[in-house]
Amino acid sequence: MTKTALVTGASRGIGNAIAHRLAAAGYRLTVSARTEPGLLTAAEELRAQHGVDVHPVVANLAEPEAVQRLAAEHSARYERLDLLVPCGGVGTAGPIAEVPLKHYDLTLNVNLRSVFLLVQATLPLLRKTSAASPENGAKIVALSSITGVAAEPGMSAYGASKAALISLCETITLDEHARGVTATAISPGYVDTDMASYAHDQVDSASMIRTGDIAEMVLAVSRLSANATVPNIVITRPGTAIWRP
Ligand SMILES: NC(=O)c1ccc[n+]([C@@H]2O[C@H](COP(=O)([O-])OP(=O)(O)OC[C@H]3O[C@@H](n4cnc5c(N)ncnc54)[C@H](OP(=O)(O)O)[C@@H]3O)[C@@H](O)[C@H]2O)c1
Repeated sequence: MTKTALVTGASRGIGNAIAHRLAAAGYRLTVSARTEPGLLTAAEELRAQHGVDVHPVVANLAEPEAVQRLAAEHSARYERLDLLVPCGGVGTAGPIAEVPLKHYDLTLNVNLRSVFLLVQATLPLLRKTSAASPENGAKIVALSSITGVAAEPGMSAYGASKAALISLCETITLDEHARGVTATAISPGYVDTDMASYAHDQVDSASMIRTGDIAEMVLAVSRLSANATVPNIVITRPGTAIWRP
């Protein structure tokens, strides 16, 4: 049975690279993002380049109903879910004294609450998939950040959302491993995408981590047996400050 994956944030950046890597490995995909034209273009490119079935679902991760609909659309289209990749996220910054509540709410709702809800909504299918393929199990690989491992100034809401995501992945594995479902956080430094463009005055894009580097890690985790799990993968740029982005 051909494996399936659900990737959020798949229209651009890291999520798009992950979707391409998985499609090249033969996965059938549900891909999601907030903006329809970008998502439909991405889905068409995935089909054209890899010849796999791709189901695009527009969903604003800030809205719980949209997250539920996303999970339901995947279940209706495919009979299994081998790999859930919550990647869609927002970056917000500013001194803690000045962060507006609406920025805090958006950051936590998109980067953390949506993952919590998406995991809850997809767990029945993840468990069913694991029962059918006990050697591999079913896996969740969520995009955290190195800022969730070592805090950065001006990143209070973003860093908190990503630190909580690392903890959430650990708890998912503790709660669900007996049913073959495990979770891994990936915590990169600067990756060369739109989100990291704000840092170009400090780090040029040529020296940033490649989106393909993250995609390789996701594929590697997906290939582990159900007997092995990796709680958190920190990916940093070689240099003099190993825990900085
Ligand atoms: N780039 C980095 O340096 C870096 C480092 C560490 C961790 N990360 C994390 O990696 C993940 C991907 O980042 P990226 O750099 O690839 O970002 P990106 O290039 O800005 O792409 C963000 C993706 O998330 C989607 N998205 C944003 N807000 C959304 C919402 N409310 N609802 C649904 N989809 C939404 C976007 O969809 P639309 O196209 O529709 O807007 C897009 O597909 C994020 O979780 C980010 O925090 C990034």
